[in-house]
Amino acid sequence: MTKRNRPGYDQNSTKGTVKNTKEKRQGDKPAGKSKAPVAIAAEVLAQVLQGRTLTQALEMAAPNPSIRGAVLDMAYGSLRYKGTLQALLVQLLKNPLDDQFVHALLLAALYQLAYTDEAAYAVVDNAVNVAPRHLKGLVNAVLRNFLRRQEELLEASRQTVEGRFNFPSWWVEKLQVAYPDHWESILLASQLHPPMTLRVNCRKNSPEEYLAELEAEGKHARNTGESALTLDRPVGVEKLPGFAGGRVSVQDAGAQWAARLLDVHAGMRVLDACAAPGGKTGHLLELADAVVLALDVDEARLDRVKQNLARLGLSAQLECGDAANSEGWWSGRPFDRILADVPCSASGVVRRNPDIKWLRRPNDIAKFAKQQSAIMDALWQMLAPGGKFLYATCSIFPEENLQQVESFIGRHEDATRLPLPPELGGGQLLPDENHDGFFYALLQRV
Ligand SMILES: C[S@@+](CC[C@H](N)C(=O)[O-])C[C@H]1O[C@@H](n2cnc3c(N)ncnc32)[C@H](O)[C@@H]1O
Repeated sequence: MTKRNRPGYDQNSTKGTVKNTKEKRQGDKPAGKSKAPVAIAAEVLAQVLQGRTLTQALEMAAPNPSIRGAVLDMAYGSLRYKGTLQALLVQLLKNPLDDQFVHALLLAALYQLAYTDEAAYAVVDNAVNVAPRHLKGLVNAVLRNFLRRQEELLEASRQTVEGRFNFPSWWVEKLQVAYPDHWESILLASQLHPPMTLRVNCRKNSPEEYLAELEAEGKHARNTGESALTLDRPVGVEKLPGFAGGRVSVQDAGAQWAARLLDVHAGMRVLDACAAPGGKTGHLLELADAVVLALDVDEARLDRVKQNLARLGLSAQLECGDAANSEGWWSGRPFDRILADVPCSASGVVRRNPDIKWLRRPNDIAKFAKQQSAIMDALWQMLAPGGKFLYATCSIFPEENLQQVESFIGRHEDATRLPLPPELGGGQLLPDENHDGFFYALLQRV
């Protein structure tokens, strides 16, 4: 199999342009103390392999803007394909490496060699340059060995579950049980580069108007929901017409169901119980002049709700508090609508956050399920009779979704499940080319 035909090889990546300039930059002597992108990417990867999230690791590494694109490409790519890359390393090393930086450096360099169009000699040179002196020979030998035997090594790496699917084996087994007919397509979709989807603000323009404007600028997009336009190629938000003025937001088409399902009307009292960073809060307010309380337990994330609403020119009452405990933030007046977009495994959005699949542990799912049921039980007491409650996750694991809702209904006699539009089936959206994986259940208090 040639490199270009290899699963995951990204011929259309918008990052291609970044890569070429990056390659030049990496070859240049670093100015002063600035580090080569591959060294920063390896530091970031090493942090993630030790348990930090990719976001935290990138914040710590703080690559300067001129190389950020190159670092992100290597960090995200290496995590996306870590199963295969690790299986390659096992074959290429006689003994496991103690040096975590060099381990991560080899993963990043193998990613570039196997899945990008970087020139092989430059990848090897750059990795050897930043390796510690006593390991330069090993880095050189491993990478050159890969180049000599790549097809055979890649074939052998596909013999293990992690090497073949690029997911931990417990994750694959879980999906096999939950989705005996679809597990493989779910895994493949979870490896795709995520689409970039816009939510057109219906207060400022229609999707048709905005689509025409995009097309006139040569940015092609398709309708993937009532207000959703999915771009053929991702672009920086600063290149989107009217982004700063709130004409559009970036939000997956699957996530755009939430505000519509909640059926909010002007004047209603609405609680958005796990609101940050405010994607759904903004959508709710675009759809109706409701009185929204946006709650989140994380003060720093709540600040992002504020910024997002300011950009859209909308407002809500913001409160920092625990949705599982009403003390200190609830006035006692019931809500007409509650959105519970609860913390979850994020297994439906793993292609946007490829660190997640390696950071999660099998027993995390039960922990999330416990937290979710505590939040649901507490919020239910705040819902007015006849009021609607939307339970939402970005998970594809049944323990957090259908099983969670069935057990909730078993505990609450005054809860009934309302039907969803046919496109949503039983409420479980699986990741595909149009949207990420989400789960919705709409409940009413009778
Ligand atoms: C899936 S995210 C919400 C995304 C958000 N609804 C949006 O559309 O932008 C879950 C949020 O729940 C918050 N959270 C976690 N536990 C919470 C709790 N006990 N009470 C309130 N918020 C909580 C997290 O800080 C996180 O911001």
